[in-house]
Amino acid sequence: MPQQSRAWRSAWSLPPDVTFLNHGSFGLVPYDVQAARQEWQRRLYENPMNFFVREMEVALVQAAERLGKFVGAAARDLAFVDNATVAMNIVAQSVDLEAGDEVLLTDHEYGAVRRIWQKRCDRVGAKLVICNLPQPLESATAIAEQLLSAVTTHTKLLVFSQISSPTAVILPAAEICRRAREAGIPVCVDGPHAIGVVPLNLEELGCDFYCASCHKWLCAPDGSGFLYVSRKRQTQLNPLIVSWGGSIAGRPATWQDEYNWQGTRDPAAYLAIPAAIDFFERIGWETFRTRTHELAKFARESIIPLTGIEALVPDSPDWYGPMVSLPLPTHGLSAPAQGQRDPLQDWLWSTYRIECPITWWHGQRLLRVSCHLYNDAEDIERLVKALDRVGLRD
Ligand SMILES: Cc1ncc(COP(=O)(O)O)c(C=O)c1O
Repeated sequence: MPQQSRAWRSAWSLPPDVTFLNHGSFGLVPYDVQAARQEWQRRLYENPMNFFVREMEVALVQAAERLGKFVGAAARDLAFVDNATVAMNIVAQSVDLEAGDEVLLTDHEYGAVRRIWQKRCDRVGAKLVICNLPQPLESATAIAEQLLSAVTTHTKLLVFSQISSPTAVILPAAEICRRAREAGIPVCVDGPHAIGVVPLNLEELGCDFYCASCHKWLCAPDGSGFLYVSRKRQTQLNPLIVSWGGSIAGRPATWQDEYNWQGTRDPAAYLAIPAAIDFFERIGWETFRTRTHELAKFARESIIPLTGIEALVPDSPDWYGPMVSLPLPTHGLSAPAQGQRDPLQDWLWSTYRIECPITWWHGQRLLRVSCHLYNDAEDIERLVKALDRVGLRD
């Protein structure tokens, strides 16, 4: 393993015999970021009274300012929530929907997000509309046009992933938001895979809501998500948890107070987000993005010859970042039931200690390879060797 890769890998507590190619599902937290969280917990447990009523709100504003600089938003437009799922549920509870209204999603959305909106629509007799994006995905304009062509006079909200989960595709967020604005349709962007992976400026993006988890590519601790809400939407929000709804320290109330205080709980994961940003700034964002995309590209170039099946998107960092989804032959299999895994995924783990998920999407069996700085070319070669052993042609 080259010296630089070894140095990067040593920043995480990944066991040497594990090949972890699933950062897209669950991010590993570097030692430095773990330490930052523990330091906040130490301060909390030293004197909880002092921490909660005097220190916490100041610290949350500072963390939001740091995060805001990084994602291009003012701190006053960001609320910390546990994860993107919570953020999306808040949006779902906050959008006015009546019978006959429509919520528009793409066919690349994360299953739980689709379920959130299905349940929300079912409750009032609204309709969930799924727009199938063009296949193959080759043109940002064609994607935006297809999606916007599914807008009707009943559409109340458009929801799409900036980077999709099953297909790992970077969708043209700026173009979609711009066209939705022109059409007068509010937009909620599902962004957990975008944080750190693509440069962000939420104000310029001009979406109404942005849901994110910092525990993925940004490597912040679990429980460190956020919800961005544009100013005009902030008064329409409905929190999932109702508590005091005002400042615990006695300053004038803000909309974020509903989320800052949801009963007594440990906010250390939010407060460790700046340490995660520091971690990447020491390495350099370009280094992270270039290095991990090159590894994903290497995976793509090595696996396609084994399967003989083309990738879903052109070979360009405009279309995929550190994560790539590659179709596998189905071998007569069909999608496993929820909570069950593809036998090949389990075999990779039990035989080779390789974590690499296989999911099903539109009848396609997709191997999703995620590459972070603790990975190197040897990890990809190990995966390719294992796949070659099972034989990947139908
Ligand atoms: C596109 C997308 N949206 C939402 C989520 C939910 O993220 P979390 O589990 O952090 O709430 C995921 C998780 O993988 C995802 O990939």
